Amino acid sequence: MNVVIIGANRGIGLGFVRHYLQQGGEVWAGFRQSPGALDEIDDARLHLFQWDVTRNYSAADVQTKGLPDGIDLLINNAGVYGPGGNGQELTHITAEDMMAVFATDCVGPLMAVKALKNRVIHARGRIANLSSKMGSSDDNSSGGAYAYRAAKAALVIVSKSLAIDLADDGVRVITLHPGWVRTDMTHHTGLIDVDESVSGMARVIEHIDDYRPGAFVAFDGKIVPF
Ligand SMILES: NC(=O)c1ccc[n+]([C@@H]2O[C@H](COP(=O)([O-])OP(=O)(O)OC[C@H]3O[C@@H](n4cnc5c(N)ncnc54)[C@H](OP(=O)(O)O)[C@@H]3O)[C@@H](O)[C@H]2O)c1
Repeated sequence: MNVVIIGANRGIGLGFVRHYLQQGGEVWAGFRQSPGALDEIDDARLHLFQWDVTRNYSAADVQTKGLPDGIDLLINNAGVYGPGGNGQELTHITAEDMMAVFATDCVGPLMAVKALKNRVIHARGRIANLSSKMGSSDDNSSGGAYAYRAAKAALVIVSKSLAIDLADDGVRVITLHPGWVRTDMTHHTGLIDVDESVSGMARVIEHIDDYRPGAFVAFDGKIVPF
C-alpha cells in the first residue's frame, strides 16, 4: 500500500507515518522545511519529500519528488491554526491572517490533490483531508477563531466536491476530524494522544465505503454535523 502524507514531520502527520509503516505500508512523508523527527525513523519503506502546501508546483516539479505512480492513500494533514491568544478575535483578526490560514488549510490540500490526482486515480485510491470540528457551524458555540474556523469549513466543502468529481475515477474522499489531540497546535492540552487519534482515523479510512462520499467523520467514526 502506497501512502503519501503531506505535513508529516511532527504531530498527527508523524503519527500517520508511524502507523502506516507499522501496517507494512510504503510511506512517502512530506515536510515543509525540515524533516525533523522523520530523520530518526530507520525504515527502508520510508521516503521523504519536500512539499510546502502554500507553493505552486508544476508537473515538472512534482516529477522530481520521487512519488509513486500509484497512490493508494493521500493524506492532506498539513495545517496551521493561525494567530493564537486573542489574535483571531473580532477586534484583532486581519485580512492577511484570514488569507494566510486559508492558503494553508484550504487551498493547500486542494492544490495537492490537483497535482497528485492522476497518481491516486491510477491506484483507484483514497484521499483523506484533515479538517476540524472547529470548521463545523453546528458545533460553533463560542465564536471567534475566524481564520481557522473559516478555512477548515471551506475545506469540508472542497473535500465534498473532490469526492463527487473523482467518484467516477474510483477515488474515495473523506474529511476527518482528528479529535482534540495533544500536539504542538494545541500546546499539548488535548483530550487524546496522537496514537488514539491516528488509529481511529485509520479505521475510518479503512471503512471509507461505509460513509457517503465526502462525509465529515471524527476519529471515533461518528459523523460531524456540519
Ligand atoms: N491537534 C488537534 O487537536 C487538531 C484538531 C482538529 C484538527 N487538527 C488538524 O490536524 C492536522 C494536524 O494537526 P497537528 O495537531 O498535528 O498540528 P501541528 O502539530 O501544528 O503540525 C502541523 C503540521 O503541518 C505542517 N505544515 C504547516 N504548514 C505547512 C505548509 N505550508 N506546508 C506543508 N506542511 C505544513 C507542519 O510542518 P512544519 O513543522 O514545517 O511547521 C506540521 O508538520 C492539521 O490540519 C490541524 O488543523 C488538529
